[in-house]
Amino acid sequence: MDAKSEIMDIWPSKQQIPEVFRLSESVEQREYLVDGRLRTWNGPMQEVLSAVCIRSEAGTAQATLGAYPLLDEPQALEVLRAAVDAYGHGRGTWPTMSVEDRIRHLEEFTLRMAETRARVVNLLMWEIGKSLADSEKEFDRTVEYIRDTISALKTLDRACSRFEMEQGIMAQIRRAPLGVVLCMGPYNYPLNETFTTLIPALIMGNTVIFKPPRLGVLLHRALLEAFRDAFPPGVVNTVYGEGQKVIGPLMASGQIDALAFIGSSRVAGILKKQHPAPHRLRCVLGLEAKNAGVILPDADIDMAVKECLLGALSYNGQRCTALKILFVHADVVDAFVEGFADEVEGLEAGMPWDPGVAITPLPEPARCEYLRGIVADAVARGAGIVNARGGRSDRTFFHPAVVYPVTGAMRLYREEQFGPVIAITAFKDIEEPIRYIIESDYGQQMSIFGQDPDRIARLIDPLVNQVCRLNINSQCQRGPDTFPFTGRKDSAEGTLSVSDALRVFSIRTLVAAKPTPANKDIIRQILRQRRSNFLSTDFVL
Ligand code: G3H
Repeated sequence: MDAKSEIMDIWPSKQQIPEVFRLSESVEQREYLVDGRLRTWNGPMQEVLSAVCIRSEAGTAQATLGAYPLLDEPQALEVLRAAVDAYGHGRGTWPTMSVEDRIRHLEEFTLRMAETRARVVNLLMWEIGKSLADSEKEFDRTVEYIRDTISALKTLDRACSRFEMEQGIMAQIRRAPLGVVLCMGPYNYPLNETFTTLIPALIMGNTVIFKPPRLGVLLHRALLEAFRDAFPPGVVNTVYGEGQKVIGPLMASGQIDALAFIGSSRVAGILKKQHPAPHRLRCVLGLEAKNAGVILPDADIDMAVKECLLGALSYNGQRCTALKILFVHADVVDAFVEGFADEVEGLEAGMPWDPGVAITPLPEPARCEYLRGIVADAVARGAGIVNARGGRSDRTFFHPAVVYPVTGAMRLYREEQFGPVIAITAFKDIEEPIRYIIESDYGQQMSIFGQDPDRIARLIDPLVNQVCRLNINSQCQRGPDTFPFTGRKDSAEGTLSVSDALRVFSIRTLVAAKPTPANKDIIRQILRQRRSNFLSTDFVL
């Protein structure tokens, strides 16, 4: 078989798709959630094409999955009004509700969400090409995240359920909501990364507007009824459409109090500038990264190859935490490159539902076009593609390309490729990767592979001041979700972990008084008669 037909052969016919994963009908989503109702949209729609192409007699093309509403400014402002009214300047039902009751609403949502698992997982595969195993992991990890969030909130609440006495002042210090939060997640984790901001924002008493990423919209459809039924009207609202039309007016209104955005620093910069009072806007941002792996001369090469393979190619390298450039010591670079190329060629490529699949289609052909461009640039400037099938592509499929030697003259050296292209560069002096990391615009994580404790220790101290997680003999990753996840420079603003997220979407607020007999009596009565949800020594067990 020639190279072209081999790569095209990857696409299944309709009959070759296991029945359980076939989409019985297209998802024509006309609804958006506003003020506790599913409003029907009769305006323009965005057609949704799959990452997966289907072979038929008429040719091979991306499967059509359905469509979602392309809302406009009036609908965005309607959604904003609902969220602002539900917050009611902090006087709404939700922001003044007890923690215990808010938890009850979230638990109800979680039960309803669990019922949607099969549908959401299937759409994750079709919409963004994520493998079945990774799609299931994304769903389950999200449900677990919600459960962990509830338990972290109980712990936080217990710690706040007491009075402090300091310098003759008594006070109760709790965390209060910020207001209206706009949540926008990325296409690579459309469910998980949207929910890791949406859920903590909600549970702390904020009202929320969420916009799914451009790719990975329909999978949220199954959750709209659960949001509608589990929370008071206006607490959760959704918006769909082009960012400029629907997000611009929200930001420009000045009524968004917190922005949770996972995407590019370019877009984050635009959004922040649209807010008329940027100093008032709280931001939680997860942005680009170009995480480096440094393979020292004494590294266990087999282990380093396996771990870097996972780090560079899980979900086709479409993770902000992926290893995006590998610096390998000149003494071991040949062995490493050879082993790495072999492993890449051994990976199973196919459709998301294929058992054991590792490499799957990308969400849209434009991604392949970009990757072809960045690889061509490297090749034109002296690099080679070292694996046999590297860079072969057809429509939305791109076979991983191992590119070596990558130098500072190439785009691949600095640009975040966010896809199945592995950049390898050789170094002689450890100062070379250190300088690279210092000069990088990004500062999320890095990995060091080696066995000598002295050599590793000498790298730890300077490099922890450059990145926010240094992984020893392990790939970069976000999890466990209880660990802090953040970055320096252009990589992030704010820290997300189960417990940190509760803090970033709330503000410490206190009720204080001089402990005079009259004041003590007032407070005693409020507590005994449970007149306030804030000033209260109750806690959730
Ligand atoms: O895209 C960035 C994700 O937060 C990475 O998460 O390391 O668990 O894949 P992960």
